[in-house]
Amino acid sequence: MSVMIPDLEGYFRQFAPPREDLLLELEQEAAAEGIPIVGPVVGRLLYLLGRAVQARTILELGTATGYSTIFLARSVPAPGGRVVTLERDQTLARRAAVNFQRAGLEAQVDLQVGEAAILLPALVGPFDLIFMDIDKEGYLEALPHCRRLLRGGGLLVADNVAFQGAAPFNRAIWESPDWCAVPLLCHLPGHSPERDGLCLALRLE
Ligand SMILES: C[S@@+](CC[C@H](N)C(=O)[O-])C[C@H]1O[C@@H](n2cnc3c(N)ncnc32)[C@H](O)[C@@H]1O
Repeated sequence: MSVMIPDLEGYFRQFAPPREDLLLELEQEAAAEGIPIVGPVVGRLLYLLGRAVQARTILELGTATGYSTIFLARSVPAPGGRVVTLERDQTLARRAAVNFQRAGLEAQVDLQVGEAAILLPALVGPFDLIFMDIDKEGYLEALPHCRRLLRGGGLLVADNVAFQGAAPFNRAIWESPDWCAVPLLCHLPGHSPERDGLCLALRLE
């Protein structure tokens, strides 16, 4: 029968994955302080994508308190796997560093403090997966660096692409011969905001 489930948003909320006290605490802090985090569904998606591409090296742009980084760092092998994460706000970066220790992930995470536009040119790849979650106006400038830093066949995940600031990025990646991109408009329980776009893009050889 081609009948949709009623109250789709409410229905899918029940599938938010369970998570431990540390992640619940970071979610509560984020809600109280207005820190935009990916929430448990996109967190699990990042973990799943990291596992699916068998990532050993991941780059994240935009750490905040380290919530999404924890999911990414859990998707790489330990020992040997590595997540490089960039954050310009020193106070948030200090909090993230504490959270990585609390999660037992400090060996896997290389937290670099500064503007992405300054840090990116000095980074050396290849990375298997890049997660982009900085100010949306910075996405377009970061795109050539992602192209350089991702291995051929590597995966770029860009959050919040339904924000106006991401529009030039959406157009550029869609039209570029270097990427096979799919923009998805989604309902994402616990994500900030819950109705938003995600872009998944394969870096072509
Ligand atoms: C949306 S929050 C990141 C949330 C985090 N990924 C999560 O889901 O837990 C964006 C973060 O990126 C940082 N940021 C924004 N623009 C940046 C830039 N150009 N360079 C470095 N960090 C930036 C902000 O300070 C903020 O902490």
